[in-house]
Amino acid sequence: MSSQPRKILVTSALPYANGSIHLGHLLEHIQTDIWTRFQRMCGHEIYSVCADDAHGTPVMLKAQELGITPEEMVARTRAEHHQDLLDFFVEYDNYHVTHSDENKELSELIYNRLNDAGYISKRTISQLFDPEKKMFLPDRFVKGTCPSCGAEDQNGDSCDNCGATYDPTEMKNPRSVVSGATPILKDSEHFFFDLPQFSDMLQTWLKSDALQSEISNKLEEWFEKGLQQWDISRDAPYFGFEIPGAPNKFFYVWVDAPVGYMASFKNLCDRSGINFDEYWGADSDAELYHFIGKDITYFHCLFWPAMLEGAGFRKPTGVNVHGFVTVNGAKMSKSKGTFIKGRTYLEHLNPEYLRYYFASKLGANVTDIDLNFEDFAQKVNSDLVGKVVNIASRCASFITKRFDGKLSDNVLEPELVAEFQNAQASIAQAFEERQYHKAIREIMALADKANQFIDANAPWVTIKDESKQAFTHDVCSLGINLFRLLMVYLKPVVPKLAEQAEAFLNDNLSWSSAQTVLTGHEINKFKALMQRVDMDKVNAMVDDSKENLAPTVTLDPNSPLVKDPISDTIEFDDFAKIDLRIAKIVVAEHVEKADKLLRLELDLGGETRQVFAGIKSAYQPEDLVGKLTVMVANLAPRKMRFGMSEGMVLAAGPGGKDLWIMEPHEGAQPGMKVK
Ligand code: MSP
Ligand code: ZN
Repeated sequence: MSSQPRKILVTSALPYANGSIHLGHLLEHIQTDIWTRFQRMCGHEIYSVCADDAHGTPVMLKAQELGITPEEMVARTRAEHHQDLLDFFVEYDNYHVTHSDENKELSELIYNRLNDAGYISKRTISQLFDPEKKMFLPDRFVKGTCPSCGAEDQNGDSCDNCGATYDPTEMKNPRSVVSGATPILKDSEHFFFDLPQFSDMLQTWLKSDALQSEISNKLEEWFEKGLQQWDISRDAPYFGFEIPGAPNKFFYVWVDAPVGYMASFKNLCDRSGINFDEYWGADSDAELYHFIGKDITYFHCLFWPAMLEGAGFRKPTGVNVHGFVTVNGAKMSKSKGTFIKGRTYLEHLNPEYLRYYFASKLGANVTDIDLNFEDFAQKVNSDLVGKVVNIASRCASFITKRFDGKLSDNVLEPELVAEFQNAQASIAQAFEERQYHKAIREIMALADKANQFIDANAPWVTIKDESKQAFTHDVCSLGINLFRLLMVYLKPVVPKLAEQAEAFLNDNLSWSSAQTVLTGHEINKFKALMQRVDMDKVNAMVDDSKENLAPTVTLDPNSPLVKDPISDTIEFDDFAKIDLRIAKIVVAEHVEKADKLLRLELDLGGETRQVFAGIKSAYQPEDLVGKLTVMVANLAPRKMRFGMSEGMVLAAGPGGKDLWIMEPHEGAQPGMKVK
């Protein structure tokens, strides 16, 4: 590695402002933060920026649901996200938001330059439109029947059942997730970015060492399919920036989101006098790295470099792609309690456990990272607590109590120290190359050696022998020095632990500190540096994540729970009081002057009940006769305007046409109890 200070700018992908920071996000932020801290410790000029990604339909709808303006929601979420990250010791030089003046200016500038250079064209396309909400529907806001296999209730772009991908206009029985209405096709003029014009440039760029080989191979596949024009506009209503000269047309969120990297940095420059152009100008000699997850490769490795090139800015030096976090071997799941928010984690566990664990698993490839709780507890307890912190705790009290808190002037085994120091180059290389797991493996091998050294010399035995005091002093002093070297190497990973170690060692640790040994140096009293992972707390965190279910799902616009959040829990005894029965509809008829109700007569297998049910909007009476359904049989009779209602039938759905009565399988008989 060159010893010249480098100029570096790094970014993490901008979290969407409509959900909480979770352990998947944290993998990325921790990866970026470790790299940044490492470079900074080495004396390089490095800045790291991030922001909340504020724009788009999901953010707009979420704000509507909460009854606040999108600006207000984004401001709240940004503050919450930023605090979550800080509490994991993830420190950006700036944590901005894409709904900002800087971003508007830069997005317009880039667009205008692309437009002037002839990279933007317009054409009319036909898309699904929600006639009730009066808005065009992004794919994920349409549901319907798969055109390939006929599975119902599939997403607008792909089928979970058969894996087919399609255009939402091809779906059968499409409906809007927003209102339930049947979408219609509507024309609108859209703006397109001419990606194919950048084909040659991108081919060359992706063969440079900017990308991991897995990623450039993937991109090759996309090239073989051929690059397409990219639709960069969205119609009002849309939370975003209006396109210059095009009223009611907005930039698609993915246009201004990566520009948000520049904007966050611009905001930092304006506050602290850094020269923006030195980092983003076409002839910049600074390094620029984006850390992202594999799902957003396309945006960062095709659209973004093309936009930058077309608008006269520099391209990234590297796009560092990581895999996805799984928990206990499976996709994070809300029902299993493994969809864990950063905040929930923090309520139970030390953030540095997670930093250490992720570091011990992270390499430079795109493989998914499994967070296995047993392994997590075992690794943190045996490595950080059992090996590293233990070295200090085994030696410190003797130094404090018997040697006036002062390390000896003598270095007992210089070869051992040299071995620790010589490891620095390959540990540095591992950090540089994002092979954190290799760095951790090397550091832990050294920690084993330090413990072996202490075991072999047993200071707790020699301390009792008056004639061996100087030797004991040397052994403990060397132990402390070896601990110090380990903490230098671990500092990018566990900065808080390193800070506590610095207080104890009475020393500041930089990367070059590894080349020195403390002799005749006064240290401070040792305090416990880290507790072991308690599995009970891990389990409590998982339980809490299950409890989070109701508030969390309100964030998923596809979920019916958005409209009908799950109510407070009831006791089993309360539930047991409800007597549900199979009933056969023998009569169904309109009720004069009632606009919602149908009158039903229900056969309970020996008894007939009259029920008024609010299902007129969804059913014709004649379609109901003969059907089996489920009723609450022990609801106290209620006198209604039209007569007595002696029970209630069960139906589901948002209302209007979308309402479905429960229909038991054939074979169920009127009067049977529903269990
Ligand atoms: N807003 C866009 C990014 C715009 S960048 C100009 C976005 N946001 S996101 O909140 O969905 O994701 C932010 C980052 O977190 C992405 O890099 C994404 O890959 C990463 N992750 C989200 N879930 C993840 C896991 N389960 N595991 C690892 N990373 C994951 O995409
Ligand atoms: Zn299908």
